[in-house]
Amino acid sequence: MNTRRILVTSALPYANGPIHIGHLVEYIQTDIWVRFQKLRGHQCIYVCADDTHGTAIMIRARQEGRCESDLIAAMQAAHERDFAGFEIEFDHYGSTNSDENRELCQVFWQALRSADLIAQRSVDQLYDPMAETFLADRFVRGTCPKCGAANQPGDNCSKCGATYSPTDLVDPKSTLSGATPELRSAEHLFVRLEKLHDFLRQWVEESDALQPETANYLLGHFLKDPLRDWDVSRPQPYFGFEIPDAPGNYWYVWFDAPIGYVASTQQWCNRNGQDLADWWKSDATEIHHFIGKDITYFHTLFWPGMLKTAGFRLPTQVHIHGFLTVDGEKMAKSVGTLVTAETFLRHHDPAYLRYFYATKLTSRVEDIDLGLEEFADKVNSDLVGKVVNLASRTAKFAARTGLATEYPDDGGLFQQAADAGEEIAAAYEACDYARAMRKIMELADRANPYVEHAKPWLLNKDPAASQQLQDVCTVALNLFRQLAIYLAPVLPRLAQQCGDLLGSPIRAWDQSRIPVLGTAVAPFQHMLKRVKLEDLQKMIEETKAENAASPPSTTAAWEDSDEPLRAEPLAEEITIDDFAKVDLRVARVVAAEHVPEANKLLKLTLSLGGEERRQVFAGIKAAYEPEKLVGRLVVMVANLKPRQMRFGLSEGMVTAAGPGKTEVFLLGVDEGAKPGQRVH
Ligand code: 2FM
Ligand code: ZN
Repeated sequence: MNTRRILVTSALPYANGPIHIGHLVEYIQTDIWVRFQKLRGHQCIYVCADDTHGTAIMIRARQEGRCESDLIAAMQAAHERDFAGFEIEFDHYGSTNSDENRELCQVFWQALRSADLIAQRSVDQLYDPMAETFLADRFVRGTCPKCGAANQPGDNCSKCGATYSPTDLVDPKSTLSGATPELRSAEHLFVRLEKLHDFLRQWVEESDALQPETANYLLGHFLKDPLRDWDVSRPQPYFGFEIPDAPGNYWYVWFDAPIGYVASTQQWCNRNGQDLADWWKSDATEIHHFIGKDITYFHTLFWPGMLKTAGFRLPTQVHIHGFLTVDGEKMAKSVGTLVTAETFLRHHDPAYLRYFYATKLTSRVEDIDLGLEEFADKVNSDLVGKVVNLASRTAKFAARTGLATEYPDDGGLFQQAADAGEEIAAAYEACDYARAMRKIMELADRANPYVEHAKPWLLNKDPAASQQLQDVCTVALNLFRQLAIYLAPVLPRLAQQCGDLLGSPIRAWDQSRIPVLGTAVAPFQHMLKRVKLEDLQKMIEETKAENAASPPSTTAAWEDSDEPLRAEPLAEEITIDDFAKVDLRVARVVAAEHVPEANKLLKLTLSLGGEERRQVFAGIKAAYEPEKLVGRLVVMVANLKPRQMRFGLSEGMVTAAGPGKTEVFLLGVDEGAKPGQRVH
């Protein structure tokens, strides 16, 4: 077999939020593909990095009172920890805020300049004089110019549906500072993409790099009309790289982010004595990008245009996946289904999610749904019931007998499974993991009746049947090993455990063709436990409780496709009567304690004067020591409908400001106010 050289990337996650189970679809999908290629003996490297630039990071750092580099370093550490927790193994994980990336941006930029692809013109944009920054459309709100509805976003009206530009709003306000924005004009630099139209059309039509639905979408939506110029610069202040030949202007985050793929490869090359050109300028290397459908445009038009112009090779394939829904609903913090990687790992084995996603992923751009019952069913009946079962029913006997030195007659089971290897490999290669998992489970469905029928637990009781017992264990454990090899890209830990058990590490796909014989079998170690539906529900409930108890969230990184800013828009306008419906009261904290099962909540007992006590769960654990709260006056929402949580009834809410986590500031009133008094 000839060895392929393959470079693989996943989209670079934004450094403005934690990794959650929506992101993990892609990282798990990519990691499986990379592990598969390595197992097949190819030279394959997987590079990624944090995507660190842009207004979002700048504003957030300001809000958190720290510098951008502190913020992105902390975020990167958290991302790397979460990826490691899910056994996502990068060959290199970099950052777009690196010297290598700055230099490569300059290389791409020079090439675009030399090809006369850069144009300059002035852009009028609203500017927040207090926050001293230009405002993206959605950070401006005001009165709809068409129907007069108040507090509408900068690009379209939620009442009448009109679309307009933020400069058309009546009485616009910046959501960053509340200031009235000014119209300012600034020079921007654009890539004249239309000049690459013919090249891009041909690439989309002929290269085979795109799934058919993606190619059709691009041809039908974008490539049928002239391509619009792409605005790739932002005036200061901006967190990013300053453009050397346009001082005071910075490359837009989406310009330097994909170059981050190359920069991360450069860092890997530096560490491994390799030449970047062999990876990014050679036809002998394949380049595979894995991305979500929301960022198709960037990777299938801008990015190939940049690569072509700068003389880098084009992607061999851009593998695009759909979004994750949870129990049929779009994932969202507001419904409490935005389970972070960290929360998942606190409750469950990462192998469950890796396997579940594998059963769902195909080569098409389809959304995938995580239904809790289906999740539990797949893990329990497939992995525990069919795969691990082969080992758990025989390994303890084999630890005594060892494996036979000759492979016993198994009625052709081993050979059938060996023969299935190429078909399973083809499914992995095509990213059709769902088909690969079905084929593997078909093999498991044939192996299990063999053990059922041979009943090693009875043979074990019969001293005269020891040879037979050894034979049965040898067959069952070798069939188990074949499954562990085929599942190794998805379940690396299971492969490791199987290798340890049989004293024969799993390193190559073709090991599935040759049985392990004559070795001692190690004492059986527990491999994977069943998942309980109620534990999954608990995880969702805890996520809900944490989401509800934490201050209202800003946009999830997953939902941002373009310039994501994490400031909080003003809520819809209300009348004084609306406000009067909220009964805010002064309350005194009389007790505060940790809730052991919840990592963000404190349980507060509040006095409203006299005998009246309220129990409230508040998402302030990271910010406050419970002891320090006792005795303090707070402002509570006293007429909120009580909510039954897993930990008990929550009978109200305490008011607080801040973005969450350690940055939570409880609202209080001056001493002298009496518990129970209404706040007006
Ligand atoms: O959509 C996102 O989350 C972006 N941070 C992805 C960047 S991918 C690449 F271009 F760097
Ligand atoms: Zn309107």
